[in-house]
Amino acid sequence: MAKSAPFVWLDGKLVPWEQATMHVATECVLRGENVFEGIRAYWSEAEQELFLFKHAEHIARLRQGAKIMRMTIPYTDAQIEAASLELIRACGYRGQVHYRPVAYFDMGNLTDYLPSEIRTGMFILAFSTPTTKQVHEGVTTCVSTWRRNSDLASPSRVKSGANYHNSRLAYIEARLNGFQIPILLNAAGKVAEGPGACFMMVRNGKIITPPVTADILESITRETLIGLVQAELGLEVIEREIDRTELYICDEAFFCGSGHEITPINSVDHYPVGEGKPGAITRRIQKLYFDVVCGAVPKYRHWLTPVWGGASRAAAE
Ligand SMILES: Cc1ncc(COP(=O)(O)O)c(C=O)c1O
Repeated sequence: MAKSAPFVWLDGKLVPWEQATMHVATECVLRGENVFEGIRAYWSEAEQELFLFKHAEHIARLRQGAKIMRMTIPYTDAQIEAASLELIRACGYRGQVHYRPVAYFDMGNLTDYLPSEIRTGMFILAFSTPTTKQVHEGVTTCVSTWRRNSDLASPSRVKSGANYHNSRLAYIEARLNGFQIPILLNAAGKVAEGPGACFMMVRNGKIITPPVTADILESITRETLIGLVQAELGLEVIEREIDRTELYICDEAFFCGSGHEITPINSVDHYPVGEGKPGAITRRIQKLYFDVVCGAVPKYRHWLTPVWGGASRAAAE
């Protein structure tokens, strides 16, 4: 059964789920011509409040992707934030949410590629999305035979629906071969990322992650962790190329991303990572991350946007 939600925000207004439809001839439907974000909102039990995590940073990335695509988003940042809040409130969520603002190209003639020739619309989806079992237990992975989209062909830096054809091919292959999540190498044969998350590993107590020039999405979670683990856990972070065989000998490894959160990697190509279960450093990073996103660390409260503004606390009292 596919996920659904009570409402969708579509081109300026809330519409019931069943009525959130789009013509089959739009560029968005035909060619995946869109740019989107996946953002989480975290529920604080202590405060009875829901917090958007780094909403502004995600919208800044949405605009970067749109710029590369030469797409003009017809809403301001304030309008997109207001729309996201309106949708999440209308859906009545009081628990973890994953929401997706999507800017899309509408219908055009065959080569109507210029922004002046084709309308851009926007919709936002918001789902109740609790943390998965995989985040707690870790996953099995493999190195995909598919290479990550090259910056010279279909830039991974742009979070466009069309890029996820690449992710999908890798995912399916991994699943058919009995693994949970693939790791994609880039065209140069170096580790890039997962199909929907960035990659980090631990070697000799240091965190190592591919640079943003390795054909990866410039992940907000990756950037957040690079800062947090150095500042709060005193761990060194090195951004450098990673060889395939390093995957087989690293001490710990995990995916990071808004959707996948921090998902420990238990094995790669049947080689156990460390002891074949989530490692101690990964667990410490998870704890820190979840404390921060739920508002438990005052220093980082500026990354959070409250959804209910105390309304649900009042309702609970
Ligand atoms: C391909 C890909 N890489 C990395 C990420 C992680 O990015 P972020 O941390 O901004 O969610 C995502 C998730 O959205 C993704 O789809």
